Amino acid sequence: MRSELPVMNNTPVAIVTGASRGLGAAVACWLGKVGAAVTLIARSEEKLNETGDEVRRLGGEPLVCRADVSQYDACRKAVDKTLDRFGRIDAVVNNAGIVQPISAIARTDPAEWRYNIEVNLIGPFNLIRAATAALSRQNGRIVNVSSGAANLALETVSAYCTSKAALNHFTRVLDAEETEVTALTVRPGVVDTNMQAVLRNENDNAMPAEQIAYYRQLKDRGELEPPSIPARSIAWLALYAPREFSGRFLDYDDDRIRNPALEVFGESFSS
Ligand SMILES: NC(=O)c1ccc[n+]([C@@H]2O[C@H](COP(=O)([O-])OP(=O)(O)OC[C@H]3O[C@@H](n4cnc5c(N)ncnc54)[C@H](OP(=O)(O)O)[C@@H]3O)[C@@H](O)[C@H]2O)c1
Repeated sequence: MRSELPVMNNTPVAIVTGASRGLGAAVACWLGKVGAAVTLIARSEEKLNETGDEVRRLGGEPLVCRADVSQYDACRKAVDKTLDRFGRIDAVVNNAGIVQPISAIARTDPAEWRYNIEVNLIGPFNLIRAATAALSRQNGRIVNVSSGAANLALETVSAYCTSKAALNHFTRVLDAEETEVTALTVRPGVVDTNMQAVLRNENDNAMPAEQIAYYRQLKDRGELEPPSIPARSIAWLALYAPREFSGRFLDYDDDRIRNPALEVFGESFSS
């Protein structure tokens, strides 16, 4: 049974995964600022509720769905709840991701390696599989959050690099199949979130010395982006990405994205 009336026709409806913190929470806030209805997905309900409160304070309409994106049924239920509550889906942002295991291939726990792929690659597949029919009806958009690691052979993070490379290629195939939907991947840069903290707080033997020094220097030198900056580009792509971007792997700071995003959303959530 429908719990509330569908949102107004001109109000966009988006699903954002990994919305309990970091980049995903910031994407949800930007969408809230322009009055969007936003389904928030992650595993930590308390943190999701905090994001939901912020989205509402900014003018959006949140729907909290606690779910592990590696589970197809959980993704399908989140799509059903979104349709039940808001009546349609205009955008999906597949942002949930994990970097672990941090370990050389020869010493990695197979279950941990598999779970990384299940979250970072199969997670986006699950949600896209469940939402594509609804997205097609709206000529909607899918933004898959990838990483520069997709094109790098970084020692000790093989599952992460592999999952992001596969996500990029999966998105190209999706673009070939789904002509009614705009689907792309985006590189968010290096962002000041929990994921970077995990990397720089690893013990000194976990990865090659120069690699761990690089992650620590990013923080020490103030070179990490605040989540709101790449999130603003991602929120803009979710609402406005032109059809010619479909299938592409784009940079968050590409002028064709950064400039219109700034124009639409402004400098900060509250201004
Ligand atoms: N930070 C960077 O420098 C950087 C660089 C390149 C790419 N990225 C990408 O940006 C995206 C966001 O990362 P972040 O930096 O914001 O990291 P983060 O702070 O660790 O946030 C990750 C988010 O994903 C959620 N998540 C993890 N596993 C999940 C699962 N199985 N089901 C549902 N949600 C799950 C987490 O929530 P719960 O734990 O509550 O489930 C959290 O909300 C990731 O795809 C990452 O690969 C980040």
